[in-house]
Amino acid sequence: MKRALITGVSGGLGAAMAWEFRRHGWFVTGVCRTAPAGDVCDEFIICDLTDPAAVSRLAESVGTLDLLINNAGIGSYASWEELDEASLRRLMEIDFFAPVALTKALLPALARSRGAVINISSVAAVVPVACMGAYNAAKAAIAMFSESLRPELHSRGIRVLTVMPGRIDTGFSKRAVGGRTVPDTPGRTASSADGLARQVYRALMWHRRRLIYPAWYVAPIAFIRHFPAVNEYFNRKLWGLNRE
Ligand SMILES: NC(=O)c1ccc[n+]([C@@H]2O[C@H](COP(=O)([O-])OP(=O)(O)OC[C@H]3O[C@@H](n4cnc5c(N)ncnc54)[C@H](OP(=O)(O)O)[C@@H]3O)[C@@H](O)[C@H]2O)c1
Repeated sequence: MKRALITGVSGGLGAAMAWEFRRHGWFVTGVCRTAPAGDVCDEFIICDLTDPAAVSRLAESVGTLDLLINNAGIGSYASWEELDEASLRRLMEIDFFAPVALTKALLPALARSRGAVINISSVAAVVPVACMGAYNAAKAAIAMFSESLRPELHSRGIRVLTVMPGRIDTGFSKRAVGGRTVPDTPGRTASSADGLARQVYRALMWHRRRLIYPAWYVAPIAFIRHFPAVNEYFNRKLWGLNRE
């Protein structure tokens, strides 16, 4: 039986991916601070991933491992001016430093199984959003970690998949740092945590390098790369920045 360790399984995308991998016969170990409701994982380990000692203990407790999914993360809804340094550091700890540390600690186990690492980045890694800039930076950092890690691990047989989801309704906005309320955006209801989980499983089976979900985000991403002023105009309208 294949074994996966998934972080951030107490809800949202992590819980959906845990279900999906279990549905395909995997043994799933879930990790986060709050135990998930019901039967989401085969095994659950409480761990604050921003605590380096707890991450070391977690890695030591792992035996055989075929897959690590770095999913736990939080958002930010504040302008750069509003966001205090403590909140920025908290965000970078869980969204960037924690997955890097956990991946490094689990590489020996993943090398033994010639396994895989999946890093949950975001479309926000490539689409700048006003009042979410810290999150943009954190998700760009984890995407670059993921993409540069792949060639480093190739010779050891470890595959790396970078996942960039668009906005999906989860508990995400409630856990974010910063005081702003996130405005509604187009396309939000077109995607689901279950849909993402199915696509992640399929992308791993097909040995893909990158997954953007839903796939139609590829078009606005390309458009925004070529016409950044349009994105900036939309951002100012979205957050009412023209009136501030
Ligand atoms: N939802 C979206 O629209 C969206 C879009 C693109 C990317 N993503 C990314 O997808 C991932 C999952 O997001 P989600 O929407 O499922 O969010 P969510 O519902 O808020 O789930 C986040 C998970 O991270 C865990 N977590 C947070 N801080 C932690 C810590 N210090 N130690 C251990 N676990 C911690 C939480 O568990 P505890 O609080 O119990 O620890 C929770 O299980 C994140 O990396 C997010 O950036 C989400």
